[in-house]
Amino acid sequence: MRAHVKSSFYCALFCFVQHVTSSQVLLSQQCWHERILQSVNLFTFADGYTQVVERLDGPITIPESPSTHPSLYQPDTNDDFPWTHPPICTPRLPSINSKLCIYTNTSFSNNRGISIFTTPSLALSFANLPAFKDPTVFTSNSINTPSNTWQTSHLPNRGIGMLASRPLVFKDRVTAYTPAFLAFLETDLGTAEREKYWRAAVQRLPKKTREMYEGLATLYGVESVKYQDVVKANAFQVEVRGGNHLALFPETSRFNHDCAPNAQYIIDPDLLTHFVHVTRPIKEGEEITIAYTSPLDTTSHRQSHLQNAFHFKCSCARCTSSSTDTTLATVASYQTSLNDWSPTSTASPAMAEHLLDLYRQEGLEGFMDVPYGFAALAYSGVGDEAMARKFAEKAREACLLKDARGVSQGLAIWEGMLEEGVEKHWSWRRRV
Ligand SMILES: *[C@@H]1O[C@H](CO)[C@@H](O)[C@H](O)[C@H]1NC(C)=O
Repeated sequence: MRAHVKSSFYCALFCFVQHVTSSQVLLSQQCWHERILQSVNLFTFADGYTQVVERLDGPITIPESPSTHPSLYQPDTNDDFPWTHPPICTPRLPSINSKLCIYTNTSFSNNRGISIFTTPSLALSFANLPAFKDPTVFTSNSINTPSNTWQTSHLPNRGIGMLASRPLVFKDRVTAYTPAFLAFLETDLGTAEREKYWRAAVQRLPKKTREMYEGLATLYGVESVKYQDVVKANAFQVEVRGGNHLALFPETSRFNHDCAPNAQYIIDPDLLTHFVHVTRPIKEGEEITIAYTSPLDTTSHRQSHLQNAFHFKCSCARCTSSSTDTTLATVASYQTSLNDWSPTSTASPAMAEHLLDLYRQEGLEGFMDVPYGFAALAYSGVGDEAMARKFAEKAREACLLKDARGVSQGLAIWEGMLEEGVEKHWSWRRRV
């Protein structure tokens, strides 16, 4: 069976396409609407936190051996490969009509190890990924290997952050790591039960990996829910055959947020690897940042998401400047005009160039596939083949920074334009 794994994080692509006529597409918003980082809800009880702490002291235990709780330990033949421990399973959970089990491979990627809390059927999908099938894939792609581009440091009011240890340029790779832990996103388990399974999953990992996990920042700082707390503060999302998993990449957790980030992440679903690449030049000693929320959302939207999900007040330049939302409105109005192919359209290559300037002014170099795409279409519209091609190439490059497997609709537009020739594109000389 070919596993279909999709990461929700190649989603910052702005290539949402709307089919208008069979030959014409309009660029609109993001093609994979960037899903904001979600997290596990730790305290779901009506009267809040104290009651949960009481419940945590309750008698819920994970059976250590099949003899104590035979019903909870249900090995099946498929469960053997590629796991180094017998799975530990929950009872059947009503909302997903499946049990969830802890699957661990302690020798995964040169003994880094991985623990996955998921359904037996999804575990089989994981096992069929190149990440498990081909043990050479990590070494040959320099994954889980220090890149010597960064070091962590305590920063005033920002906790630990990652600083460039040398000057970096566009597309430089900063990190490439596999997760230590993945957990199916469910709401059936109570906080206390979930904590026990997650703790058992992490404790099965090799010592070094486990210690990295346990040393990460938390939001609540409550020891009894520590394993969920770490995930709450640091997780990314990986989708496997439609099943949403929270994924904890220990090294990658050190990137702080900025609404004008100088780096961008991408999750390769086949390699199960989280990559971070540079989107504009970074000086030695400068902090390397990524966005935890879509930088194209309005300021209040970004602020409330960061407050609710990550418990911090966003104070980056684009959260405090009053001009950010005005610029975003201008961006939207240019994009509407550039999408107008009627005879009265005011769109022009100059307008597309101005749009590109606005993205750069806002520090959105990692999100430029849409403005590059508009520039390609605007130049094609006036019959400038060379410029259209130049910007189609840039749009393609920008798409690939967010699309590890090259499957987005947006990417297909630019590849089509480049392969078939600008003169064959529907936009060619449409505005002459
Ligand atoms: C653990 O994963 C690796 C891939 O990194 C694989 O080669 C190995 O066979 C797996 N271990 C077991 C016991 O299946």
